[in-house]
Amino acid sequence: MHYLLGTVCEPSPSLGFNCSTWNIPHGDSTLAKIVAIANQKGGVGKTTTSINLSAALAILGHSVLLVDLDPQANATSGMGIEQPKTTVYDCFTGRISISEAIISTKIKGLSMIPSSVDLVGVEVELTAAPNRERVLRDLLENLGENFAWIVLDCPPALGLITINALVAAHSVLVPVQCEYYAMEGLGWLMSNMDRIRESWNPLLELEGIVLTMYDSRINLARQVSEEIRSFFREKVFRTVIPRNVSLAEAPSYGQPALVYNSASSGARAYMELAGELLNHGKTSTR
Ligand SMILES: Nc1ncnc2c1ncn2[C@@H]1O[C@H](COP(=O)(O)OP(=O)(O)OP(=O)(O)O)[C@@H](O)[C@H]1O
Ligand SMILES: [Mg+2]
Repeated sequence: MHYLLGTVCEPSPSLGFNCSTWNIPHGDSTLAKIVAIANQKGGVGKTTTSINLSAALAILGHSVLLVDLDPQANATSGMGIEQPKTTVYDCFTGRISISEAIISTKIKGLSMIPSSVDLVGVEVELTAAPNRERVLRDLLENLGENFAWIVLDCPPALGLITINALVAAHSVLVPVQCEYYAMEGLGWLMSNMDRIRESWNPLLELEGIVLTMYDSRINLARQVSEEIRSFFREKVFRTVIPRNVSLAEAPSYGQPALVYNSASSGARAYMELAGELLNHGKTSTR
């Protein structure tokens, strides 16, 4: 049985959220779903999306595990966790079990597995390991059904760590920044997903593309957004994440923007994105 916290989605003086405002389903009994947040391009909003989408899902009553898979450990520090005693690296190397690495956060329903710079070593240390591409998948399977959602924050590279994430995931959510080279590398990511389907994970889906750091005052942002929508069509989330100062400031306070400034346009956009994700209505088939 996975546990769901169906009671936290109420008007909250501290967070200011009320599910009825967004007409979003919450706390329903879907099976656990693993979503990798990936794009090999750097600085496009993967970590911001991982943190705030995870927080939004938890606020909406779902039990969420956020896994930081980046040696930069930005999701870890962005959640206010400094110098964690154990990290995802210790799980990859088999030093501890995955459940020993899980820590709770200040947000009810949101747990996380932190990362550290040690994770760089995994790319080398696993090179000769049998089934090196499915280490994470095996680790997450050991978690049973304790979580409704598992969100994987990937590093900006298509190396062994990202491959492990894509082999473990049910779906991939791709943040794309609304800028000139936005489409660059997306074709490569899609063909890598094809290869991963063929070799290890036939049910891997593209959950969707989310446009980030959108500024409607800039013509180029509008053009890029139209170009991506005309190419990927219904695979692009309707919700667009605006460029918003609270999203940029929140990590330095060790908080999701949904806690730092719940009324900000960035926080509200991530609540909407979570609602859209939940309305996809997809459940695990694996
Ligand atoms: N919508 C936004 N509005 C304003 N700033 C943003 C927004 N999204 C992300 N940022 C800022 O842009 C920078 C890059 O974002 P983020 O770290 O989420 O990208 P990333 O894809 O995870 O980067 P990396 O590839 O290095 O892991 C960060 O400083 C972040 O705070
Ligand atoms: Mg990142």
